[in-house]
Amino acid sequence: CGIVGFLGQHEAAPMLVDALRRLEYRGYDSAGIATVNAGVLNRRRAVGKLVNLQDLLVHDPLAGKAGIGHTRWATHGAPTLTNTHPHQAGRVAVVHNGIIENFRDLRSELGALGIDHHTETDTETVALLAEHYLDGGLAPVEAAMRTIGRLEGAYALCFLFEGEDDLLIAARKGSPLAIGHGTGEMFVGSDAIALAPMTDRITYLEEGDIAIIARDTLEIRDATGELANREVKHIQIDAAQVDKGGHKHFMAKEIAEQPTVLTSALNYYLDETGITLPDPGLDFARIERLTMVACGTAYFACLTAKYWFEQLAGIPVEVDVASEFRYREPPIAPGTVALFVSQSGETADTLAALRYCRDKADRIVSVVNVAESSIARESDLPLPILAGAEIGVASTKAFTCQLGVLITLALKAARDKGRIDDTELATHLTALRGLPGLMNIALDQADRTRALARKLAEARDILFLGRGPMYALAHEGALKLKEISYIHAEAYASGELKHGPIALVDKTVPVIVMAPTDALFDKTVSNMQEVMARGGKVLLITDRKGADQAAEGVWNTLILPEVDPLLAPILYAIPAQQLAYFTAVAKGTDVDQPRNLAKSVTVE
Ligand code: G6P
Repeated sequence: CGIVGFLGQHEAAPMLVDALRRLEYRGYDSAGIATVNAGVLNRRRAVGKLVNLQDLLVHDPLAGKAGIGHTRWATHGAPTLTNTHPHQAGRVAVVHNGIIENFRDLRSELGALGIDHHTETDTETVALLAEHYLDGGLAPVEAAMRTIGRLEGAYALCFLFEGEDDLLIAARKGSPLAIGHGTGEMFVGSDAIALAPMTDRITYLEEGDIAIIARDTLEIRDATGELANREVKHIQIDAAQVDKGGHKHFMAKEIAEQPTVLTSALNYYLDETGITLPDPGLDFARIERLTMVACGTAYFACLTAKYWFEQLAGIPVEVDVASEFRYREPPIAPGTVALFVSQSGETADTLAALRYCRDKADRIVSVVNVAESSIARESDLPLPILAGAEIGVASTKAFTCQLGVLITLALKAARDKGRIDDTELATHLTALRGLPGLMNIALDQADRTRALARKLAEARDILFLGRGPMYALAHEGALKLKEISYIHAEAYASGELKHGPIALVDKTVPVIVMAPTDALFDKTVSNMQEVMARGGKVLLITDRKGADQAAEGVWNTLILPEVDPLLAPILYAIPAQQLAYFTAVAKGTDVDQPRNLAKSVTVE
């Protein structure tokens, strides 16, 4: 969910809606705003995308220069109007991101006092509790602080009070919150992107902070209730990044940007002398194993990197999805580096997994896109991927930049361990520097990919096959397709197909085989032939050499330039993404905001 707040010199409603538009990637099940106008608290809410709230405000505007807003990804309670934020109880309105774990206890406590709830949400309980404390005679600031003191769980909150035209109270615990400073104006946002056009002066709240915000003052209290001094940072966010730049969808723009952003990422880590990491650096010579943890697409980046670290550097790697890892109580042996990959840097499960490793691993390293994120801030060594703002819910450029950083790290590990010499390293780095150029050639296949996607759009199920690191990429290809085209897709290791899944194969199930001519090419081709022998319809993605050797009898081929086999997963990500994109476009689904998903998932 996304949260905004505004105390200003101008009408709040348009500012709030504008900021919510930039936060819509966090959820789009429903949206709402509340304002205080001459002391009177009012709200407007609408189910569905933000545009519905905008329409409502045209017919039923909301005046006032102070307000809060919310765009929701439903957790407690269906996406109905009743469950839409802001939640109001008497003189208090609240917007909330996260989960209040003890809300049932609080709700019963209030119920026993005759205070009833009207929604299914945990957030309403927060508003009811604050109103209860106001009834008991507390002033708004005290009522909010007392309320926050009773809450368990992870949350970001923003309160607005009847009768208070110059007061917002914001709290952060487990979910990020940024305060923006204007001239005689103050802003609150779930992230700095939401506030980018309004101000570049940002204060990030720390865990447990409560901010008491007026137009000209900001008072922050830390978790112990003491006054806290938090830095005002000048941030640079190019508002143009949050623009489609002539493309039909953010996802199309972000796919096309990959050669450019990958170049920036590589330039950050590579120089004439080789690979340089930011301080405090990392010497793999003493590292015995790696534990990599992430969710979604970032998890598949880890799965790919496992092959790199193990084959190049001989470092054993364990990879797990964060939601499993965090409760599995995995023992962390001495000499372990724990590595977390996250685009947003805020994914609740990944953050929890990081905290689990905090005192157990030798070092906490993260590969993140958002430099100010919680995961970056809590790491010993945060490694930026420099992909720029990624807005499309289905991750594309963040994935390839994550892979770019991870292969760089794996090469450094191989060198530190003495498994490759300087000459070999230089050869790999030359290939890596050439990769963005090959990606441009892959992008040029768009017309052919579009034509193939029109046919794929008719399928109900699609299988993806690969071996080695291409198996990991097959997973990402299947995930992309599921996310945005809603076609059921699964990835299998080519060699595993015959142990069960081959029963699914018939002429209605396209099988996409990702097979550059690497050391395993012949093996993959054998598995592909097993599919064709059973009437399967194969789309072979390979290079010219591979097509010459193996394309006979396949349904279709997509030809990519030849590439260092090590780098193939990064290059082959492009057709995987384009196939998903064009299939979704052919089906007419909502590419940038697919149903039921949110980009940043700050609840477990
Ligand atoms: C959500 C997004 C996915 C993303 C995953 C992990 O589920 O919809 O696209 O891969 O979270 O996000 P992160 O920000 O940690 O990479």
